[in-house]
Amino acid sequence: MIYVKGDKVLRARYYFAMECVKKAADVLKAAGFENVEITQKTSHQDLVTPMDSGIETMIRQWILEQYPDDLVIGEESSYKEEAQNSGSSTWYLDPIDGTTNYVNIHKNFSISLAYSKDDTVIFGIVYDVMNSRMYHAYLGEGAFINSEPLQTLSDVPLSEAILTTPVVNHTFLDDHELKDGCISLSSSVRGVRSMGCVSLELCELAEGGANICIAMRSGPWDHNAAALIVKEAGGYFRPLLADDLSPRYSGPIFASTDKKLAQITYQKYFNRDELL
Ligand code: IPD
Ligand code: CA
Ligand code: CA
Repeated sequence: MIYVKGDKVLRARYYFAMECVKKAADVLKAAGFENVEITQKTSHQDLVTPMDSGIETMIRQWILEQYPDDLVIGEESSYKEEAQNSGSSTWYLDPIDGTTNYVNIHKNFSISLAYSKDDTVIFGIVYDVMNSRMYHAYLGEGAFINSEPLQTLSDVPLSEAILTTPVVNHTFLDDHELKDGCISLSSSVRGVRSMGCVSLELCELAEGGANICIAMRSGPWDHNAAALIVKEAGGYFRPLLADDLSPRYSGPIFASTDKKLAQITYQKYFNRDELL
């Protein structure tokens, strides 16, 4: 089913979502960074704070008050498993993407919220909390930063490209199928950067500040909003190897500012000809 620009019902959700994200970001900012209680989830490199759950609960509540039949899949809640059987009207929420940045450097973290209808992401919002920059996109209408449209991305040769990856050790040191390809790719590009926040790294690419993004661990709440922003800015996004284009996908992801760059990367470094 195609969602046309004039769909008032969905458009109302889009504006509502932007308001929710902005309100939640104000709460997060106002709370400051004193005495943040840190808990390890799976390891000392995987953290959560009461703010992560607090912001998630707050946004979920706002959404369900307004749209009681919708499903909200948030990173911190017990609703995660529902990501596999999400319904026709589903929200994907990461209340703080980049919790380590939130805890350690007090910047470069976002609130990421995407909305999908019948498995098509209709709109996505990524809010860079400390810089008050709202990246957002509605399917078919281009991508924006606050009220400014993002410029359409242009082609860049690999030797001039910036590769960004949120966790360097996952991409270049941990064992995985594409490790050697990623290592040699890192020598072919102009430079490698790491911000430590999947959603903001994808938005950085959408803005032209990076040209290739590889994240080895990404959940639907991490990438759904930013993937739409990348695509609406004229960029390319896909699961790194899987051919699963559904918003329920969880796993490694790849994005580039143009499809040609993706083709070169896939052929030369990942031994794969066909692109989605
Ligand atoms: C994490 C960050 C990190 C990425 C992880 C994510 P979190 O999100 O985006 O950069 O590499 O895969 O889980 O835990 O801070 O929400
Ligand atoms: Ca995240
Ligand atoms: Ca998170």
